[in-house]
Amino acid sequence: MARSRTPLAAVVLAAGKGTRMKSRTAKVLHEIGGRPLAWYPVKRALDAGASPVVVVVGYQAEAVEAALVASLPGAPLRFAVQERQLGTAHAVLAARRALRGYDGPVSILSGDVPLLETETLLRVVRARGRARAPLAFATMALAEPRGYGRVVRDAGGRPARIAEEKDASEAERAIREVNAGLYCADATFLWKALARVGSDNAQEEFYLTDLVAMAARRDGAIAVDVPPEEASGVNDREELARAAKVLLRRRARALMRSGVTIEDPERFDCDEGVEVGPDTVVEPGVRLLGRTRVGAGCRLGAGVVLRDTVIAHQVTVRPYTVVEEATVASRAILGPFSRVRPGSEIGEEAHVGNFVETKKAVLGKGAKANHLAYLGDATVGAGANIGAGTITCNYDGEKKHPTRIGAGAFVGSDSILVAPLEIGDGAYVGAGSVITKAVPAGALALGRAQQVTKEGWVAERAAKKQMKMGRRAG
Ligand code: UD1
Ligand code: CA
Repeated sequence: MARSRTPLAAVVLAAGKGTRMKSRTAKVLHEIGGRPLAWYPVKRALDAGASPVVVVVGYQAEAVEAALVASLPGAPLRFAVQERQLGTAHAVLAARRALRGYDGPVSILSGDVPLLETETLLRVVRARGRARAPLAFATMALAEPRGYGRVVRDAGGRPARIAEEKDASEAERAIREVNAGLYCADATFLWKALARVGSDNAQEEFYLTDLVAMAARRDGAIAVDVPPEEASGVNDREELARAAKVLLRRRARALMRSGVTIEDPERFDCDEGVEVGPDTVVEPGVRLLGRTRVGAGCRLGAGVVLRDTVIAHQVTVRPYTVVEEATVASRAILGPFSRVRPGSEIGEEAHVGNFVETKKAVLGKGAKANHLAYLGDATVGAGANIGAGTITCNYDGEKKHPTRIGAGAFVGSDSILVAPLEIGDGAYVGAGSVITKAVPAGALALGRAQQVTKEGWVAERAAKKQMKMGRRAG
């Protein structure tokens, strides 16, 4: 990532409630791509080399802080609380203490602008540095500028001030160049100017945008044109979905460039930070969530959902398989329709087939459970074969108990394995058994009712029936 060589600090404004979300949850906590909205501008500022990044929090301050700290462990984050949301200038002022002693450039971002790219942020930072101006700010040309502050330029074409929508004259409202809400200011100028911002305006708020007029009266405010796609904010759920789509498209593009085949990028979902190796083929409808990592040369079938899962190389995950908090080793084959639950470790070349559910199950190399089974709290040795319909009864209503199945063991179909239980290496369990006691290595265990066979029974029954009918008729 192209970091700035000069020192840089950042302030991310995230104190507002976000009324238009119609939510009990603060807007910046709503997730897209598996991360809270505010994660994006904070991460872009960090990627630009900003240190510290001060996040101004207010509404649900503790939750916002907790979410950011959890998703950016070790990052140089600081938090400043703005008790009442009296405007964007007031919000930046709340960060002053957290930046005491720092006198370099400060970039200011909105917590609800997730599509901003690091390079764009750096362009604004560099533009200010090059011009040695007190302030640079991002602008964009919009066909429909409603809601944004308009950029009013002087006779010489230099930015003179920002007119907020509610304060703008009719002529000003016709201006299509708007304030994108991304700034870089010299710290000394910033704190001095903020102290002079008043609230004599239509909204009786302290507008950060007043800084443009103040800078213009001194050494100038530099306007940097940025792509509207990056600077549009998220104010309601529709914009949230739209932003999620844009981020997703970017991630899909990056994966495809790195050698991943995505058969239909429009029907692909992938959280921020998910990794996929080259030559992996992703069929339509796949969702890769959380901290998922997929190796090279894999195939992920239609409708596969992987969450917090690590998949090695050349693994085949057939359609409609759901894997959560699990690991899968090379060349294993899962699905179709398998459910691999938390704590499962599927070994190399192991097979987990249709309607097989595993939970905290460790399958050794080449172990197979191909059909209709439940393996919970179980260890299955290398090469063991688990027959169709096998169930580990791991729960007695109070506690979970383990089942250990040795290498090369063969468990016949429809067996009930009552845990705690140990089945030795190479042992056999006859189909339909209920096994409650340990089976030593190499033994055969049968735990089922003896079969009763009555030769000629059908013919006998038919003869009896006929006799009865004869008596009745006679
Ligand atoms: C602001 C700009 C406007 C610009 C637009 C771009 C001002 C006065 N106007 O308007 O010129 O076109 O952004 O998106 O700055 N916030 C706080 N505390 C507050 C107020 C706001 O933390 O007291 C946060 C909000 O949570 C939000 C960000 O600052 O993340 C922007 O505030 P918002 O009220 O959305 O400003 P806009 O009206 O969009
Ligand atoms: Ca806004």
